[in-house]
Amino acid sequence: MRHGPIHLGSEEVAVWADQITKSFGAAQAVRGVSLSIPKGMIYGVLGPNGAGKTTTLRMILGIIDPDSGSRQLLGHSRPRDVANRCGYLPEERGLYPTMKAREAIAFMGALRGLGWAEGRTRAGEMMEAAGLGHAVDKKIRHLSKGMAQLVQLLGSIVHKPDLIVLDEPFSGLDPVNQEHLEALVRSEAARGATILFSTHVMSHAERLCERVAIIAGGLRRFEGTVAEARGILPIEAQYRPSARAADVAALLPEDARFDGQCWRFSLADEEAEPLLLALIQGGFGVSGLSLQRPGLHDAFVRIVQDAKQTDAQEAAAC
Ligand SMILES: Nc1ncnc2c1ncn2[C@@H]1O[C@H](COP(=O)(O)OP(=O)(O)OP(=O)(O)O)[C@@H](O)[C@H]1O
Ligand SMILES: [Mg+2]
Repeated sequence: MRHGPIHLGSEEVAVWADQITKSFGAAQAVRGVSLSIPKGMIYGVLGPNGAGKTTTLRMILGIIDPDSGSRQLLGHSRPRDVANRCGYLPEERGLYPTMKAREAIAFMGALRGLGWAEGRTRAGEMMEAAGLGHAVDKKIRHLSKGMAQLVQLLGSIVHKPDLIVLDEPFSGLDPVNQEHLEALVRSEAARGATILFSTHVMSHAERLCERVAIIAGGLRRFEGTVAEARGILPIEAQYRPSARAADVAALLPEDARFDGQCWRFSLADEEAEPLLLALIQGGFGVSGLSLQRPGLHDAFVRIVQDAKQTDAQEAAAC
């Protein structure tokens, strides 16, 4: 299955992948994923466990090579050529336990070409800004898991990369540190960096991402804005007319049911305003109205369920 219009990698596109695939033995982890992420965008890769997110990110960064398909990173077809312009927080965390936090960040920067003194200075500033000023000289093994994760994250961006790839960066962080991280992502984007991150937590994607891709079973099942994702599900409406309640059914959608108190029905976003207008013009009035818009979480669950069903049908047909 081929997905979406993809334009060829260019200076304006930070990440470009066309139908990349990867198998481990007989198992197809990624069956054909395409992505085109403009420079400066905050982009989310969402998907259930085992969907192929980490494998996709690793292929994009050149940590592993795809079996087929092509990709470009910052306009280069060999990702390793631009390794120093990228920052990566891998899924499996790990820093040298005996290093002090500030040195650990400077060390990660040095691996990507940043001078040691500059790295140490920046590390101190970044830790201060992230609320970790008190821990600059603490050894990694004396930090909590969440603090160590933030230190590793700071180490992955200390060299001011053009592209930042974060695999499940929010997992294991408390709500305050999640907020710190969201602020950090926004400030890195404001500096001009492109941010690509994977997450299971829809609220972060909803707040941060300009566009998202939803991957399930190794295939991209959705690509678009958060609003477009939410738009795949109808709005759930509850409506109580102020007059002539019995006649109103003719104006309401087919699935409308009266529960003794109010009418319940579903409708698409663009249908809400014309319907309200028709109800008022029809003299039914509004004594109660609630429109419940689905969240990204609901859209995600639906897309993943549909994907499972499609895959099961395809498997049964083989
Ligand atoms: N190195 C590997 N060797 C064998 N199988 C692998 C390897 N890496 C990933 N897989 C398999 O590929 C599939 C996709 O894994 P991947 O880690 O990309 O998923 P994911 O979307 O990142 O999941 P999660 O949300 O749990 O992190 C899984 O079935 C996994 O078991
Ligand atoms: Mg993963």
